[in-house]
Amino acid sequence: MSLKQKTLDLKKRMQEALQGGGTKAIEKQVASGKMTARERIIALLDPNSFHEYDLFVEHSAKDFDMDKKHLPGDGVITGTGALNGYPVCIYAQDFTVAGGSLGLMHARKITKIMDHAMKLKVPIIGINDSGGARIQEGVNSLAGYGEIFFRNSSASGVIPQISVILGPCAGGAVYSPALTDFVFVVDKISKMFITGPEVIKTVLGEEISMEDLGGARVQSELTGNAHFFALSEQECFDQIKKLASFIPWNNTKKAEAFPKKSPKNKIYNIDEDFPTDPKQPYDVRNIIKAVCDDSDFFEIHENFAANIVVGFARMNGQTAGFVANQPLVMAGVLDVDSSDKAARFIRYCDAFSIPLITFVDLPGYLPGVDQEHAGVIRHGAKILYSYSEATVPKITVILRKAYGGGYIAMCSRHLRADFVFAWPTAEIAVMGPEGAANIIFRSEILAAENPEEMRKLKVKEYKKKFANPYVAAAFGYVDAVIDPNETRKFLTHAIEISSNKVENRPTRKHGIPPF
Ligand code: HXC
Repeated sequence: MSLKQKTLDLKKRMQEALQGGGTKAIEKQVASGKMTARERIIALLDPNSFHEYDLFVEHSAKDFDMDKKHLPGDGVITGTGALNGYPVCIYAQDFTVAGGSLGLMHARKITKIMDHAMKLKVPIIGINDSGGARIQEGVNSLAGYGEIFFRNSSASGVIPQISVILGPCAGGAVYSPALTDFVFVVDKISKMFITGPEVIKTVLGEEISMEDLGGARVQSELTGNAHFFALSEQECFDQIKKLASFIPWNNTKKAEAFPKKSPKNKIYNIDEDFPTDPKQPYDVRNIIKAVCDDSDFFEIHENFAANIVVGFARMNGQTAGFVANQPLVMAGVLDVDSSDKAARFIRYCDAFSIPLITFVDLPGYLPGVDQEHAGVIRHGAKILYSYSEATVPKITVILRKAYGGGYIAMCSRHLRADFVFAWPTAEIAVMGPEGAANIIFRSEILAAENPEEMRKLKVKEYKKKFANPYVAAAFGYVDAVIDPNETRKFLTHAIEISSNKVENRPTRKHGIPPF
């Protein structure tokens, strides 16, 4: 055969392989509102940047007549490409080929591209759309998952790992996304669960739909397994591109610097709009937008544990991670879920050299039987641990309430914040004035001729003495009480002068965080 003929033969083989599961299966995929695996990769990556590998990989199974079946690419597409101009490794499971089920060679393709990502020190993006372990391949499928989980764990904190759930992700398969940094879901398309509705009905007699069990809304609002929710696949890809613009490509790099931009005018007038009454709610995201570049705040986990807000923004062109209590939801208390959410984000920022800015306004940890029994002690400890462990620049601004354990937990000086600023509206105390006065002045209140009047008097006395930032400032726990309108100035300066910060922790194999 001449070179030309051989090349034609190659093209023919490629054409066959590119058909995936064939016209019928592709039609079914499209009819269910989903893109095909290749379309997804093309839509996500920079134009013409995708290079596919292992197109001709074949499965090796023999049992259950598998030796008679041809599964193009063994149900997964792998390769390299570019996202926002930077290199990435990527894989996308092809549901049109045996339901994207994972057998030995399918898993080997994934682990090979993961190994590439680790060697090249670039992000790995996994698009999941699969019926899970390929039943006909038995233990080899389980082995494949195990190899993926091991690599997910090894890559954690070294390269960014992004999971996109665009179909079913069932059984133990869910644990690869769960081990990665960011999980994206799409309404009515994504489904994640360990055991599906049928098993639940058989074992527990409960009936539930796939959507209600593990659909996109459930995973992004209730469980927190997903960090981003989108209404369409294209919106999801746009979210991924935006996320990628904020994060460094690996743990030895800094995130790309963008041109400096001032916050948008009139987004929030602190003087007029900020409520000094400690009981009045407000949306803390407006404060973040009032200080960050272009008022562009990219929120993570927006629909989960909304009593704390986390996300990325830029300060003078540099990425910063924001953690802020949200007085709009449950007064911004710390509870089981918000502690989990914040702790994970803090650890991400620390692993990838992203400075942390914390805005504090909370009454403390949420009291109650439900929280105690749900493990608020163990989960609440995660935020203490992650702030203490973090050695990136840490800057804290106390906006209003900083009571009790909440004061300590929200990146206080004692957990080694580098800079602690407070607005004149800050109230730093062991607890709120009402509760405190009731306890420490109990006998005087009870003995008074008019106990209610006495109580009010004592609350006022306590407020005057403690409900301000100046006692903490007098001990040096607060570095500066600042004009709220100068917050951006103080933050950008603190970040700039911290750019070469070095802080060491004791030598050890690793700590044992309370997870
Ligand atoms: C082999 C599978 C498969 C699987 C689907 N297929 N899942 N083949 N192993 N796990 C095949 C189907 O036989 C079918 O092949 C094709 O994929 C499309 O599947 P359909 O059922 O027709 O599609 P749909 O109606 O959309 O339903 C999708 C589904 C369903 C909900 C995912 O297929 C399903 O319930 N699959 C089984 C899910 C599961 O229980 N997986 C094992 C989980 S345990 P044909 O040839 O007919 O087109 C697990 C353990 C991992 O993953 C542990 C790791 C630690």
